[in-house]
This record gives sequence, structure tokens and C-alpha cells, in this order.
Amino acid sequence: MSTNKIAWLTDIHLNFIKNDARNKFYQSISKTDADAILITGDIAEATDLCEILSEFSTQTKMPIYFVLGNHDYYSGSVANVRERILKLCAENINLIWLGKPEIIPLNDHTVLVGHDGWADGRYGDFDHSTVTLNDSRLIAELFQAFLLNKKSLKNEMQRLADVDAKTLEQTLTQAININIKKIIIATHVPPFPECSLHKGKQSDPNWLPYFSSKATGDVISVFAQKNPAISILVLCGHTHSNALFKPSKNLEIKAGRAQYYSPKLQEIIDI
Ligand SMILES: [Fe+2]
Repeated sequence: MSTNKIAWLTDIHLNFIKNDARNKFYQSISKTDADAILITGDIAEATDLCEILSEFSTQTKMPIYFVLGNHDYYSGSVANVRERILKLCAENINLIWLGKPEIIPLNDHTVLVGHDGWADGRYGDFDHSTVTLNDSRLIAELFQAFLLNKKSLKNEMQRLADVDAKTLEQTLTQAININIKKIIIATHVPPFPECSLHKGKQSDPNWLPYFSSKATGDVISVFAQKNPAISILVLCGHTHSNALFKPSKNLEIKAGRAQYYSPKLQEIIDI
């Protein structure tokens, strides 16, 4: 069965709102004419992520494709959250974590792929940045590195980003077949500075190291250049700021706007 319309959501942080508000949100998504849901990360936090995804699935009964954002790992570790997510998805065919990795044929000409992606400190000025995100307190792998020193934190951010980018690169290569005309890539962190915005302007060098993933962007740029006949739409979040960036004819990146306590539909994507 082909998918015609996808409800794109990002940074919904459902752990911040009460049951009633969550149920209202699920119903609002069910009422759209979408056949499936795509979430580009920051769904909840490690302690309630699986419970909230199950609840979302039970209430909507639609396929939910998702990648995880940094918040989804808060109060947990990357390794443990992924282990639990793989188990959850194995038990519920309507929950599909794209980082497994999965290649989802949406119709004869379009596929969906993705990975969580991590900010990698390669854009902006990491060494002089005064920013400290909760990531380095609340995600076990980053906390352990942060305790050593800032250089170790950067190394760990880059290790996580590079692992996901490499997996995405392999998934993209495997996704190509003779009929493919369009690929939708879901990721959490904006892959280019031009789509990492704050109040309508590009994030400054202080924030950019934590709000962009050069590792992911480089993989996507090379893939777009090598495959000019394939149209690529990248969907991301993380900055909570709308952005639209078209670096080349076949590549478009959209970042979604979000507000804590007020989850919303970004848009219905026509496949
Ligand atoms: Fe995020």
C-alpha cells in the first residue's frame, strides 16, 4: 500500500504536557488526512519515551516513523535508549525507528530514510563557545566525556554524529534503485548552518556548534551531487525555528518551528 500524505511533527516534547492535552494532540493528528506520521525527534525523554510512543500509537493507529532527538536520551544513555527502542519497535509494527536503519518505500518512486543525528561542534566556534547544554549533564555518554574536559566532550559529540552520519550514508546508498525519484531524509539536528536559525537569523558561532551537524550535512551534500536526478527533501528540528534552505536544484531542507507545552503539526507532506 502506498503512502500519499505524511503528518510531519518535530520537537513535540510530549512529556511536558498532561494526559488530557496529549490525548487532544493525538486526536488532532488523527483527524488530518495523513496516512502516516513522521517525527523528527525530541518526542519525550528517556524515562517516558517508550510509554509515550506506545500511547501515541494506540491512540492514532497509524504508522509512526521517527528519529530521536537529544532530549529523547535525557536521563538515559544512547546505548540503553536505542536498545529499548529496538525492542519496542519489534513489538509494535506501527512504530518504526528510522535509525535501525530502515528504508521505507512510500510509493514506487519515493522512499523515506533517516537517522537521529547529533550536533558535532564543527560549525561555529566550539572552543570559545560559552554554551553548555543539558545534553552534557543528562546523556550518560556525553556526561562522562564532559567530566574529563571540553575536548573530550567535542570528541564524543563527533563520535556520535559520525556513527549516525555513516549509517545514513550506507542507508542512502542502499535506498537507490532505478525507479527512485525522491528521497525524504528525517534527522533531528539541522545539517547546515543556513537552516539552523534563531529568531530568523542564522545561529551565531556561540550556539552553532550545538545546533548543526556537519557530519550529516556532508553526507547529504555528496549524495545530492552524485544523484542529480533524485529530488531530496530533508526534514529536521532541534532549533525550534522555521527554516527553508535550498543549496542545490535537487536538495531542499526544512527545519520545523516548535514551542514547549504546545505541540503542533508542522505540515502535511504530499508524497
Ligand atoms: Fe533537540
